[in-house]
Amino acid sequence: MNLKEYLNSVECETGLLSIILDLARASEGIYDAVSTNEAGKKLTSENASGETQMALDVRSNNIITDILEVNENVSVVGSEELEDLPVFRDSGYAVVYDPLDGSSLLDVNLAVGTIVGIYEGVGILGRTGDDQVAALIFVYGPRLTAMLTVRKGTHEFTFIDGEWILTRENIKLDKEKKMYAPGNLRAVSSNLKYRDLINYWLDNQYTLRYSGGMVPDINQILLKGCGVFTYPGYDVAPNGKLRLVFECAPMALLIEQAGGKASDGSIRLLDKPIGEIHQRTTIFIGKTEEVDIALDYLG
Ligand code: AHG
Ligand code: MN
Ligand code: MN
Repeated sequence: MNLKEYLNSVECETGLLSIILDLARASEGIYDAVSTNEAGKKLTSENASGETQMALDVRSNNIITDILEVNENVSVVGSEELEDLPVFRDSGYAVVYDPLDGSSLLDVNLAVGTIVGIYEGVGILGRTGDDQVAALIFVYGPRLTAMLTVRKGTHEFTFIDGEWILTRENIKLDKEKKMYAPGNLRAVSSNLKYRDLINYWLDNQYTLRYSGGMVPDINQILLKGCGVFTYPGYDVAPNGKLRLVFECAPMALLIEQAGGKASDGSIRLLDKPIGEIHQRTTIFIGKTEEVDIALDYLG
């Protein structure tokens, strides 16, 4: 079954369907750019969070924005690389994205990805991640793959011979294997609870699987059916680094739809109000039992 057939089979609304197909097309362009352009080339410009932009960050952003601008179902777009939210139309879907997550890994040829959340309507401020009607990630690795949810389970699609084929249906986080992806380890010097959690994982012989890219790390948890990804805060950055709207909320929906859990450390991540488009949040996400262990240590 291909992506369009899958979306029709779950009676996906036609506007949303066209946006998802457009995003898939954009990802093909980004994969091509990532594979062939100068990796790791830095610009002098900064993004809205004050981080130095890579040429491919900007290129990826433009590929998505240019495609969505001419889709009549898109009201607004928001991007990690853009200060404001360009309004294209006064109705439709708001599409928010991190066009190229993990761009600092480009020069060493590790996997990178795109993260997208989709909301019905125009504005997203004051809403929560639970309002997302769809979430998806694209993984730019040896293969071009996507994880998608339209709130009817989480499914993997693979770009094979010019077509997006459904390759894993109804992914579930139900495996027993112990696996951890501990982000922001530099926090252990000031966050002693996090140090205790790390020691718990070490003492219990968890397998370390951390790439430094949230997309391949979460993709791995989904495909292996187990594991936990953490990015806590610490003294210099109490909310950590990752962004609620562009990174954490879409991941939380994909993981919940696979039977997992995502928290900011105190509340369900998808219940966290969006106060500011670029706001950061701590995150503990993965198989429910593993997230609960992390929350026991950190609470
Ligand atoms: P981006 O490249 O979009 O700025 O984000 C990268 C993110 C995420 O992919 C990864 O989990 C995290 O940054 C790694 O953070 P550290 O730099 O703190 O290791
Ligand atoms: Mn990112
Ligand atoms: Mn990015």
